[in-house]
Amino acid sequence: MELDLATLPDYLRQRRAEIRMFESETELRIEEIGDGNLNTVYRVSDAAQSTRSVILKHAPPYIKILGPEYPLSIERLTYESRALDIYNQFASGSAPELYYFDAETAVIAMEDLRDAQVLRADLIAGKVDTGIAEQIGRFMGTIHSRTYVENLDSTSVQQYRQQFANTTMQSITADYVFTFPYTEHETNFWTPGLEIDIQRLKTDTDFLQHTGDLKQIFLTAQQAVTHGDLHTGSVLVQNNTAKVIDAEFAFYGPVGFDLGLYWANYLLSYFSHQDTPDVQAALKTAIAKTWHAYTLGFRTVDGTLKAQTLQHIFHEAVGFTGLEMLRRLIGAAHVRDIEGIADIPKKLSVERAALQFGLTLVKQYQSLRDVPAVLALLF
Ligand SMILES: Nc1ncnc2c1ncn2[C@@H]1O[C@H](COP(=O)(O)OP(=O)(O)OP(=O)(O)O)[C@@H](O)[C@H]1O
Ligand SMILES: [Mg+2]
Repeated sequence: MELDLATLPDYLRQRRAEIRMFESETELRIEEIGDGNLNTVYRVSDAAQSTRSVILKHAPPYIKILGPEYPLSIERLTYESRALDIYNQFASGSAPELYYFDAETAVIAMEDLRDAQVLRADLIAGKVDTGIAEQIGRFMGTIHSRTYVENLDSTSVQQYRQQFANTTMQSITADYVFTFPYTEHETNFWTPGLEIDIQRLKTDTDFLQHTGDLKQIFLTAQQAVTHGDLHTGSVLVQNNTAKVIDAEFAFYGPVGFDLGLYWANYLLSYFSHQDTPDVQAALKTAIAKTWHAYTLGFRTVDGTLKAQTLQHIFHEAVGFTGLEMLRRLIGAAHVRDIEGIADIPKKLSVERAALQFGLTLVKQYQSLRDVPAVLALLF
């Protein structure tokens, strides 16, 4: 069954007992609030008491903004609900509480993070709370280490691999992050004037080799439960607390991918704020604090193993950071931080600088050893 504003009231009548928020006679108000591309998101509240509410996320069997001609498995919400379970289990308070999951209709009922704002909007406004970056760093370190292959017995690893064999969503990412941006593809677009820079990328054999290696790591490394889409649009900020949402791409994969997406989106914001050095300085501090908190959150059974493991994660994270930056500049999905720059010559100069930086990270990911080495490349 596909849910919309017309069919939802009936659905809710049938599922009130499972959702456990509203009495059977309560009059409900339903609003569609989602601004995403793939799914529909509703706020359902008690008409008489608006602070009593839940969020319903529903996956239609296609890409919401493109329509039924673009099918996409509704199983994506099964992976999201499994990830939410793990987040609530190991890092409670870092994600919305999961109230109810209906696999058949592809519905998640979860805690309403009322009055929360998406982190990307704060960064665009120049509001950089480094405490949020620390919270996300600790969250990633905790989830990754609690599900890390080297920290678990083989039965548990096998279970995680099965629970998070999200191959459909993984292959979408493989295309849009690692392949399409560097080929002639109909979904790519860029600011006119960037052609020469893009041509240089597409013919740089060293860069293409590293991109191929990172794609291989993305597709085959099985390290821990990875969120898979942890950019600044997947973090809601509520009363100075960071909450992670939108885990439909979760898979058992290379954990550096989460750090990479998160850092890349801070760095794109960094380049967009080229006229405000204090915001740039705060963004750099946030990147450093993310990593410090990550290392504190990440625990291994054996202390000596930890340093090596973290070094390995760091290198891969740097490579993924570079590729995420590049695809957000020339691929299908750009970021508002940069798209919002109305002055085209300025936008072009921001994009050139970000492109150059992303390229450097990809080419040097194996030798950049720590955050200061990465930040030293910024000017
Ligand atoms: N638990 C929640 N509490 C409050 N608001 C929420 C909650 N979950 C989602 N939202 C709102 O709905 C928006 C879309 O949610 P989400 O990113 O999960 O949807 P999506 O369709 O998967 O998006 P995308 O196309 O980016 O993948 C969020 O940006 C946020 O504004
Ligand atoms: Mg999503």
